[in-house]
Amino acid sequence: MTGRYTFSMIKPDAVRSNYIGQIISEITEAGFQIRAMKYTSLSTNQARSFYAVHKERPFYNELVEFMCSGPIVALVLENENAIESFRTLIGSTDPSKAEKGTIREKYAESIQNNAVHGSDSDENAEIEGNFFFSQLERF
Ligand code: CMP
Repeated sequence: MTGRYTFSMIKPDAVRSNYIGQIISEITEAGFQIRAMKYTSLSTNQARSFYAVHKERPFYNELVEFMCSGPIVALVLENENAIESFRTLIGSTDPSKAEKGTIREKYAESIQNNAVHGSDSDENAEIEGNFFFSQLERF
């Protein structure tokens, strides 16, 4: 069982395809409360830093370029067992392997352009939420 908060981003592919409304609907219908939300974009340095854990991976530079290719929506979400329940809602990183009915299965384009991000631990949810929001911007 994990804590009550997770961090999510609607990525540039899903924003470009006009899926913000549908994705937020799916998130709130699944019982998540929105505690912070921002329509913004990432600079190259911000994207490099956000994905620093992947810097040795072959896909790192392309991932950074993709994440800077257009606006994103950053979200802090609250629900019981938030990390795990959100990851179940979005499905596998690779949309071709994602369970039917999950957000990535429905809206993602590829393993890289995979529509949404979800934190993988309470610790990362805290770090990632703080990356985008001050305490005053959370409700
Ligand atoms: P995310 O959940 O935001 O965490 C890391 C991101 O790296 C992931 O979603 C994808 O966008 C991307 N990613 C992970 N694995 C690969 C891969 N094999 N090839 C390209 N991009 C990947």
